[in-house]
Amino acid sequence: MKSAAQIHLSDVQAVYSGPEGRLWELLMGEQVHMGGLASSQDLAERAGIGPGQAGVDFCCASGAGMRFLVRFRHVARMTGVDATGPMLELGRRRCAEEGLVDRLEFVEADVCASGLPSGQFDFVWGEDAWCYVADKRRLIAEATRLLKPAGRIAFTDWMEGSVELSADEASRYLAFMKFPSILTLAEYNALLTEQGCTAIVAQDTGRFPCHARLYLDLIEKQLTYDALKIIGFDTALAQRLVGEMHFLLGLAEAGKIIQGQIVAEKRS
Ligand SMILES: C[S@@+](CC[C@H](N)C(=O)[O-])C[C@H]1O[C@@H](n2cnc3c(N)ncnc32)[C@H](O)[C@@H]1O
Repeated sequence: MKSAAQIHLSDVQAVYSGPEGRLWELLMGEQVHMGGLASSQDLAERAGIGPGQAGVDFCCASGAGMRFLVRFRHVARMTGVDATGPMLELGRRRCAEEGLVDRLEFVEADVCASGLPSGQFDFVWGEDAWCYVADKRRLIAEATRLLKPAGRIAFTDWMEGSVELSADEASRYLAFMKFPSILTLAEYNALLTEQGCTAIVAQDTGRFPCHARLYLDLIEKQLTYDALKIIGFDTALAQRLVGEMHFLLGLAEAGKIIQGQIVAEKRS
């Protein structure tokens, strides 16, 4: 595990209530994760998510993942948990615009203590967000608690790859991204096992390098004005952000950071 003790949930909430969060949405779209719809389809397929099921999206942001699941996988109902109030307001508005309020519910809470009932859900879902949660053990314990027996945890996350980050690289990466900690696939696997789950899928999606290049292309070749507008036309800040994104691309190309994908089943 690589961690940055100085980063707290309040830092993450500041990101997703402000310009940085809007910048990520400009580059990634409503689904703020690598690979957008294709990534969600792939994860849902591997996890066997389908009609009639009830799920929870941990770190749902504006709920685009949940809208995907009810629209394309015909999931009966979804509950989204997120700690950033403005994100949930945006999510409720978007659900109303899309006529989905009856099937989606938003809860403002830390995913480590969601307050949701035990053993009621077929699956817990997460897309590229658990890297923002400091205590991964509590996160996995909470996800497992919510599941029915044989329920599934299905998530993608920004993880450390098979080539280890140096201490300097890790501290620069975590500080830029506001990640309090990141795990490897094996470290997640160990936590899942500890909580009584068995991993069915645990792999590198291989998306990181090409998507990092895509975001850089967008920001450098097409959306430069829009990005600058979001950050108050601060060109020095823009230069710094682009520099850090090139740094991320280098780490991804070296196999040091990945988008990991895991599907695990709760043992009955
Ligand atoms: C990258 S966005 C999530 C993107 C979303 N999964 C998607 O695919 O569109 C990260 C979200 O995680 C939320 N978050 C981070 N730490 C959290 C925590 N401990 N509890 C609840 N939400 C958290 C943030 O508020 C933010 O909305």
